[in-house]
Amino acid sequence: MRHVLDITDLNVKEVDELVATAEDIVRNPAKYAHILAGKKLATLFYEPSTRTRMSFEAAMLELGGSVISCADMSRSSAAKGETLGDTVRVVGNYVDVIAMRHPYEGAAYAAALKSPVPVINAGDGGHCHPTQTLADLLTIHREVGRFDNLTVGLCGDLKYGRTVHSLINAMLRYKNVKFVLISPDELKLPSYVLETLDKAHAKYEEIPDLEKAIVDLDVLYMTRVQKERFDDESEYNRVKDCYVLTAEKMKLAKKECIVLHPLPRVNEIAEEVDDDPRAAYFRQTLNGKLMRMALILKLVTEKDAVYRREETVSGGKCVNKKCITHFEKLAPLYKAEAENGMHKCAYCETLQKLADKK
Ligand code: CP
Repeated sequence: MRHVLDITDLNVKEVDELVATAEDIVRNPAKYAHILAGKKLATLFYEPSTRTRMSFEAAMLELGGSVISCADMSRSSAAKGETLGDTVRVVGNYVDVIAMRHPYEGAAYAAALKSPVPVINAGDGGHCHPTQTLADLLTIHREVGRFDNLTVGLCGDLKYGRTVHSLINAMLRYKNVKFVLISPDELKLPSYVLETLDKAHAKYEEIPDLEKAIVDLDVLYMTRVQKERFDDESEYNRVKDCYVLTAEKMKLAKKECIVLHPLPRVNEIAEEVDDDPRAAYFRQTLNGKLMRMALILKLVTEKDAVYRREETVSGGKCVNKKCITHFEKLAPLYKAEAENGMHKCAYCETLQKLADKK
């Protein structure tokens, strides 16, 4: 039994194997049509979703398995005060694997502490979204044909854009990948992601001007400004239209530069760009279903898999007010390995000085 809470829970070889399985599913769908007959997936979505939830459900059905779900988690016993830990302990008695989305950062880690079956993180607040990254990687593989030697531009909300954090964690494992970080000051990457880039000696530069950055890119990853993560709406209004990709701007890009977006989009890609063959974001959604099929198959059929949770130490409250530890009765835990005297919260990864237990 193992969980996929972050993309780094899958090593590079395993990602390659998932890509190979996804490609095999395209070639031989009949081979997979009944492969998980009798197995069940639960989708626990405490936050809105179209693609992730429906593609998880379609993925399990196309593997011959079944799906149970709660149409609206606010009408589950969570409304009566049931904890996330208790919920997954119960649901884990009914299914073989759980895909879970939650608005609070580190919620997937909290669920995995209690779950008797594999937990797949389908997005935890502004933290990470590993299966979106699997969709992104299959799209890069199919459209560009390599993961090495790429210049990847990440544009928009790099602060709250969980898909950006997971994609960086995945791509920095490949050779000669350069990241171009395109955002206003208010939406720059969180310090724990920058620290990961620095620790890996990854090449990156910050260029706030999209027109300037676009000319060198092999992949342009556009993101929506995540309105739901802002505490102050006026702050959101100030940055919401900071980047809009248009057909005019696409003229500046290389002829083979692909455009990705996890979707949903609001204003950040003009609809006229959809007709550009380099716009790969709708193909990306199909790739998400294929990679979720490959991942579910792996987790449900894997024998002797062990989830290697990093060693942790205890401490005081996490400084991140959006961390799940502020909303559920959970012992604060920190990754044991410190960086410059700072520890990462084991749930949400926010870097901090270890406060005394209170
Ligand atoms: N990309 C993504 O996570 O989309 P949904 O929010 O619709 O699931």
